[in-house]
Amino acid sequence: MADSTARAPDLEVVVLAAGQGKRMRSALPKVLHEVGGKALLAHVLNTVEALAPARVHVVVGHQGERVQEALAPLVSKNLSWVVQEQQLGTGHAMLCALPAVDDSSTVLMVYGDVPLVSSDTLIRARAAADEGALALVTADFADPAELGRILRDEQGNVQAIVEYADASTAERAITEINSGIMALNAGVMKRLLAEVEPRNVQGEYYVTDIVALAERHNIAVVGIEARAAEEVAGVNDRGQLAELERVYQRRLAQRLMDDGVSLADPERFDARGEVSAGVDCFIDVNVVLEGQVTLGSNVSIGAGCVIKDAELGDNVRVEPHTVIDGATVAAGCQLGPFARIGPGTELAENVKIGNFVEIKKTYVGTGSKASHLTYLGDATLGEGCNVGAGTVTCNYDGISKHPTRIGDGVFVGTNSTLVAPLTIENDAYVAAGSTITTTVGPAELGVGRGRQRNIKGWTRPDRRGKQED
Ligand code: UD1
Ligand code: CA
Repeated sequence: MADSTARAPDLEVVVLAAGQGKRMRSALPKVLHEVGGKALLAHVLNTVEALAPARVHVVVGHQGERVQEALAPLVSKNLSWVVQEQQLGTGHAMLCALPAVDDSSTVLMVYGDVPLVSSDTLIRARAAADEGALALVTADFADPAELGRILRDEQGNVQAIVEYADASTAERAITEINSGIMALNAGVMKRLLAEVEPRNVQGEYYVTDIVALAERHNIAVVGIEARAAEEVAGVNDRGQLAELERVYQRRLAQRLMDDGVSLADPERFDARGEVSAGVDCFIDVNVVLEGQVTLGSNVSIGAGCVIKDAELGDNVRVEPHTVIDGATVAAGCQLGPFARIGPGTELAENVKIGNFVEIKKTYVGTGSKASHLTYLGDATLGEGCNVGAGTVTCNYDGISKHPTRIGDGVFVGTNSTLVAPLTIENDAYVAAGSTITTTVGPAELGVGRGRQRNIKGWTRPDRRGKQED
């Protein structure tokens, strides 16, 4: 029986995120570049939360304030920032963070530019360190490029890590690499790091040198192999960023397919946020989902749509090239093609919004239709309305926005201009081509247009004067 009083050491995580990331060639600090619409560093912080660490220390340096600002929404009370003024290497970054770490804790070191590491791998590393070992997350890469190589002895024990810049040709041929992720008792790590010197090609303090030091101090080094190489792949340039984006998207696509969503092509699926979906949805190619997107069951999304922060009810059909942003769409609606449904829009059941219709901050009641070429802004429409092509709510007078209120069963004729503030009561009818500026009462016909005149004996300009010849 295990001793019930024995307690695993506290876990403290150190996230290294001070580097500039020169190879990104960017004004933005590397860890703020995004995968799946989320900063690299945010991925890492979210993942480590799953281990319930006592504290998380994030080492920032290059544009540190910008990083802190960008991540502010994720900061919890167990997170603290450590500033590394000069980036003298990963070992130096750890030295900056460790004074704040309790000697008895297990310290888990992760990198802000390795975004897809799984909590499962981190949990395995932590467990080995809790037992007194130096746990090192490794992976086998077909093309290990410039990653640090793992050196093992004949028995297969990890001996050291050699950085690419310092490696011999034979060492460069090794495909087992250092992910950079390590876990160790914090007191031991402090002692080992104190011995590290910047004696290498780059003149940096390498945290990886503690592996060889651990060997010398008889501390077991345990290699924890990541289940998939991609989970420990770091981002050093934009090519790698794009590769990880695809890895991430493939995972999201697989998860959605597992949940019962059909994707026309999982390779052309992009979600930059959180998506949840009922069963039997279909998503065509080149759709981009952003922010929080919730789909009911049997929703169909046509090619080339962009859908952001939206909720779509059951059986909604979105035709190609429709943009939806910040809207709630109830069951059975039909949208697009080429519609733009903007922020603050709420569509009740079975509404139809057709091509080249823009709609913003508007409520549309059950079964109402705006099938072509219309702008509805700051409006409320009741049930069963029909809005003709070319209708425009004139909601803005150059200073402020004004509401348009349309009742139930209203018919708005083609090419009508509705000058807000304006009310059109139930069952009213607006004649085509009207400019409506005052209330149209219940069941009334509003006509707001010049009367047609036909002028007899009129001569076309091109024929004028020709009679005299
Ligand atoms: C590092 C490892 C290498 C490993 C690779 C995996 C070392 C010496 N090398 O190399 O063995 O294969 O990661 O991705 O550790 N950072 C700081 N302060 C610094 C320097 C770096 O915070 O002074 C941060 C960076 O922001 C980055 C991380 O540490 O998030 C890794 O630094 P980077 O320079 O990218 O290390 P690599 O050369 O990739
Ligand atoms: Ca790196």
